[in-house]
Amino acid sequence: MIAQYEGYDHGCSQVLFGDAASGMNAEELGGMNVMLITAEGTLVTPGLSGTILDGVTRDSILTVAGDLGLATDVRPITLAEIFEGIAQGHFVEAFACGTAAVITPVGEFRTKEGNYPISQDAGPHTLAIRNRILDIQYGRVEDTHSWMVKAV
Ligand SMILES: Cc1ncc(COP(=O)(O)O)c(C=O)c1O
Repeated sequence: MIAQYEGYDHGCSQVLFGDAASGMNAEELGGMNVMLITAEGTLVTPGLSGTILDGVTRDSILTVAGDLGLATDVRPITLAEIFEGIAQGHFVEAFACGTAAVITPVGEFRTKEGNYPISQDAGPHTLAIRNRILDIQYGRVEDTHSWMVKAV
């Protein structure tokens, strides 16, 4: 919560947390999982390290990304790699994901060293993934993975 309030003081709505051991690796974005998209169309997200929640939205997006033709790369990713990658045009979209918000695009990362704007609005891959998840949830497309469960 301290980090979150520090973020608010700097005009940020969420905080990108580093790992507790080294502080170098990206873990989660607020209470959500974090994902990035490269210019080549690969979805990158940190691997489950033991301190990253195995979110159902994260898991679903990794599947849906494949359906949409994106490659997926699940691995440790350092904060430095994210910021340098954005500055160099390698990462072109970023978003947080979780059940409550589904997908929330990131406009800019702010650090002590500088700001890293990534996207003004939700990028095309972010939108496509979000729409596919919502279309499955609302029954607008075929549920090819048998995720939907009849409740009544
Ligand atoms: C710490 C944390 N990370 C990630 C998530 C997202 O998980 P899910 O997609 O299962 O909602 C949550 C959801 O509450 C969470 O609390």
